Amino acid sequence: MTNSPVPNAPATDAFWMPFTANRRFKAAPRLLVSASGMFYRSHDDREILDGTAGLWTVNAGHGRKEIVDAVARQMAELDYAPTFQMGHPIAFEFAERLASIAPEGFDRVFFTNSGSESVETALKIALGYHYARGDHRRTRLIGRERGYHGTNFGGISVGGIVANRRVFGPGLPGVDHLPHTHGLAGNVFAQGQPPEGAHLAKELDRIAALHGPETIAAVIVEPVAGSTGVLIPPLGYLEELRAACDRIGCLLIFDEVITGYGRLGQPFATQALGVRPDLICTAKGINNGALPMGAVFARREVHDAYMTGPENLIELFHGYTCSGHPAACAAGLATMDIMAREGLFTRAADMAPHWQKRLHELKSAPHVVDVRNLGLIGGIELAARDGVIGARGYDVFLKAYEAGALIRVTGDIIALSPPLIIEESHIDRLFDTIGQALHAVD
Ligand SMILES: Cc1ncc(COP(=O)(O)O)c(C=O)c1O
Repeated sequence: MTNSPVPNAPATDAFWMPFTANRRFKAAPRLLVSASGMFYRSHDDREILDGTAGLWTVNAGHGRKEIVDAVARQMAELDYAPTFQMGHPIAFEFAERLASIAPEGFDRVFFTNSGSESVETALKIALGYHYARGDHRRTRLIGRERGYHGTNFGGISVGGIVANRRVFGPGLPGVDHLPHTHGLAGNVFAQGQPPEGAHLAKELDRIAALHGPETIAAVIVEPVAGSTGVLIPPLGYLEELRAACDRIGCLLIFDEVITGYGRLGQPFATQALGVRPDLICTAKGINNGALPMGAVFARREVHDAYMTGPENLIELFHGYTCSGHPAACAAGLATMDIMAREGLFTRAADMAPHWQKRLHELKSAPHVVDVRNLGLIGGIELAARDGVIGARGYDVFLKAYEAGALIRVTGDIIALSPPLIIEESHIDRLFDTIGQALHAVD
């Protein structure tokens, strides 16, 4: 075992880090050692402005004492209890609370432990829904190119990021993909929802005609795609997709793992964008990232289709040991209290004008070829350096970190998603830092 190059830090060998260039990272680790409000503190005792809410997660800001206390109390009272053929009060309480903020009609909640598990859960609920109604032909799942739906086999099968799929075999059978909406000429530097691209949703009819509409079980998309580099849905696109799903008779799943819990200025993108899916996947902001947790919201009709057989039988053969974990629920309830009290479900809408203004001022910064935004999400696309994808993006990320801001890059696209408690002064500081970083790299 070798020691970490960071003084007083643990050895870094044993932890095989996710989505990380392990050897490069371990040669010069970047450790975050504490956090409060809008800021992390780094191992070298610098204040780091959080431009990414961790990983689209810490919507209510860092170090919320109310959440810490709620988790501690719950752990002391009931540390763990199963939810298979048993129950504990706080899981029911939290599900009721979530149902009360969910879009109308989404009042059945299935608990998971991550976004990836929420996706697997929603895909399985969709397949089982048709089966329960006696329609055994509907087994095909449709995703979208450049989609990200976590890292499990269902998610990478419907997902469309090649690096996440390439070496892991053929994936689920019977999957097809809609075209992505990136790179349309009329959308460059669009503010908010871009004008071009609604027609791409009609490709679903072509896919359905190819396979037979009666074989399609569900379509899954991110209302705003994050991990592929911030793709905002073109005006009318999601409406077209909903209409096509209705024509085909399949379910529409919104993967709201990044948009859920206030990111777009409403509790869910479903409400912010005014399009109604049948299932909603969430995680991350559900409890401010305090503990692993996710939830799938089902429309009542989808849930009720399962509730028709003999009452002594298990309706859905699916679940996780920690579904509805008491401490994760306690963190979730405290998070929802904070979000409601501080107006954080809608704060992104208040902050969006200043966010948009400062973000789009970077249009003229070096290397920038596109800027995209919605709610408190921002994307800055850079030209790749000499055709080497990701090299320039990584350098900008490092420069920004050295200058005191945490940003996220995916290839050469900067993806921003700050805690929803952000103030205008933080926005100014974030974009000043990114501007300097862009000028500092070649
Ligand atoms: C849209 C979307 N779905 C699913 C996931 C997977 O979530 P997790 O990493 O919690 O499994 C993510 C994570 O970023 C995501 O952005």
